[in-house]
Amino acid sequence: MRALLLSMPVVLMLAVGLAFPAHAQFAGVGRDATDAEVKAWDIDVRPDFKGLPPGSGSVSAGEQLWTGKCASCHGDFGDDNHVFTPLVGNTTAEDIKTGRVAALKAGGSARTTFTKVNTVSTLWDYIHRAMPWDAPKSLSSDNVYAVLAYLLNLAEVVPADYVLSDRNIAEVQARMPNRNGMTRAHGLWEVNGKPDTQNQACMKDCQAEVKISSALPDYALNAHGNLADQNRTFGAVRGRVTDPKAAASKPAAAPANAVVTALLGARGCTGCHGMETKIIGPGFKEVAGKYQTRADVKAYLADKIAKGGSGVWGSAAMPPQAQLSKSELESIAAWLAAGAQP
Ligand code: HEC
Ligand code: HEC
Repeated sequence: MRALLLSMPVVLMLAVGLAFPAHAQFAGVGRDATDAEVKAWDIDVRPDFKGLPPGSGSVSAGEQLWTGKCASCHGDFGDDNHVFTPLVGNTTAEDIKTGRVAALKAGGSARTTFTKVNTVSTLWDYIHRAMPWDAPKSLSSDNVYAVLAYLLNLAEVVPADYVLSDRNIAEVQARMPNRNGMTRAHGLWEVNGKPDTQNQACMKDCQAEVKISSALPDYALNAHGNLADQNRTFGAVRGRVTDPKAAASKPAAAPANAVVTALLGARGCTGCHGMETKIIGPGFKEVAGKYQTRADVKAYLADKIAKGGSGVWGSAAMPPQAQLSKSELESIAAWLAAGAQP
């Protein structure tokens, strides 16, 4: 611990380059960061556009880049929510005038990046440092201007023939739909002129004072119902039984259909079974149909899947599916018993 503390100033010195003179105590330790190293880290773009590299990109160039590098996750028009919440949508021409997104104020409707973000510099900076998600920092400055121009066009902030650049980005800022939507007048920032968290610096024997613990009282644990019913019923992490009544009686709820169907793929069942129809083995719907009225269907199917066998649907045999855990077997059998819904 002592060694770690002592090395902190060295790390700081490296990070800020020439700002601190080398400390006599650490002579010969490390070296100053080079200008190139500092430059590689120093990429933030601020609301007043300090740090914004020169460059430009058109909406149409952006559209092409978007299709190749962004649409797979964010959708062709930036409004998809299968990987992340939509980037574009829910802003109006009126919002662009007022600078305050009405849908956001009213609450209840879907939030998108453009309903929330108030500084266009944030978008430039974020895309530049973090996107595409699978290849961050791979876009040139001109590419960032271009995809951002495309997004701004989708959000109807700029027209389709717009060329966004460091020279006109301030104009764009003046049209951001939620530019007036940020406030610092709330607890996280300031309360009566002070931050809303207060503490006293401890400089000596601090360990003795610090007690860190984390616990929820029972009533809070169960505030939203039994956690065990809300978590998946297979895999390493299970929801804890938080409802005393559930602990006493209730069997675990059937897992969500999507969880089971994903499991069937992950455990190699779908190579031989179609959802509806036969591949090598019967379609799962067919299996569900066959055993609709059988009382011990869950136990029967769990056992058959685990041990494999042939003769029920034809001469082809199912090999034993030993890769499944007991709870996975139970989930699949319960899903089949409930009708094999996708
Ligand atoms: C492989 C999937 C993927 C690709 C490709 C991708 N993104 Fe993203 N994007 C994400 C995810 C996931 C997030 C949320 C990341 C997070 O919050 O940590 C995100 C977040 C964003 C955000 C911030 C939204 C917000 O409100 O915080 C923007 C803007 C964005 N992406 C733009 C782009 C652009 C432009 C491209 C193409 C150059 C792109 N993305 C390509 C997955 C992707
Ligand atoms: C190599 C191909 C193959 C794989 C992989 C396979 N099965 Fe089968 N499965 C079959 C065949 C063939 C049958 C028909 C057996 C019979 O007629 O008794 C069958 C039958 C079944 C039945 C109906 C049993 C009955 O007696 O009616 C269920 C349920 C089933 N499989 C589930 C699964 C699950 C779940 C998995 C993945 C963990 C899986 N199978 C993987 C080939 C396969």
